[in-house]
Amino acid sequence: MADETVDGGEVIVAEESREKLDDLTYLPSVSDVQQAFPYADEGQRMIGNVPEFKRYMAEKGIFQLSTQEFVTDLAHQVAELSEGEEINVLEVGAGGGALGHHLRKELERQHPGRQVSVRLTDDKSYGKGEDYKNIKPAFDAEVEEVDSRVAVGQVDRPTIVVSSWMPDQEDWTPDFRANPNVVAYVLIGDPSVTGGREEMWNGTPEGFRVEDWSNPYGVHLKGNLSMADNTPHYVSQRGAISNASVRVFVRESK
Ligand SMILES: C[S@@+](CC[C@H](N)C(=O)[O-])C[C@H]1O[C@@H](n2cnc3c(N)ncnc32)[C@H](O)[C@@H]1O
Repeated sequence: MADETVDGGEVIVAEESREKLDDLTYLPSVSDVQQAFPYADEGQRMIGNVPEFKRYMAEKGIFQLSTQEFVTDLAHQVAELSEGEEINVLEVGAGGGALGHHLRKELERQHPGRQVSVRLTDDKSYGKGEDYKNIKPAFDAEVEEVDSRVAVGQVDRPTIVVSSWMPDQEDWTPDFRANPNVVAYVLIGDPSVTGGREEMWNGTPEGFRVEDWSNPYGVHLKGNLSMADNTPHYVSQRGAISNASVRVFVRESK
């Protein structure tokens, strides 16, 4: 039976939208997500426990559910940072690769005349470590099993590195900065629980400028994907309050 809720006097049937989201090769719009999880739409503000959404994220093994709007913006950003004909992206810690997969498709769509390369990597430690034992990405976009440091070390052309939800308390960004072929890196996630926290998110590394692009469309689950607890989650939309951030670190040309 379809989940139904009353919103503004109208009955929203969520089942059809949920079916669309079941297939991670489909990149949903913000409105698809809101229709699939109608309770999540209360003012587009920070809200509490939405069990269906949490279950969905756990089942799919993803921390951030990308949307059409989000990927379109990210592709624009990445293309702008790429000089010349080539657009090279390396995603590290890519999980199942859904974000990078959709980013590649969008870049190819936006820039048919340019040479697009999006390499997806992850050491595939998810499912092994205690923190990630519940995570097994349902999506498999042919992610290469490579450690982040190794992957970044292999970058030999001007490239933008993308890292979404870097493991908590880790900071891979010194490796990004150490390779001069990394022209920029993009951090996506919740700064309070992602990566090296304070310094990684808020510092301005020497030789880089920082562009804060607060995530207008990302839909994500806050915190580690511990489905046992009641971790609140956030649905963000343009202008909505959210802890999810996108920060872009651009190497200053000498
Ligand atoms: C919090 S998950 C984020 C996954 C995905 N980017 C997302 O946003 O849903 C962190 C990912 O980093 C990977 N990982 C952990 N340590 C790594 C390392 N040293 N090198 C590459 N990937 C690593 C894990 O396998 C896991 O897929």
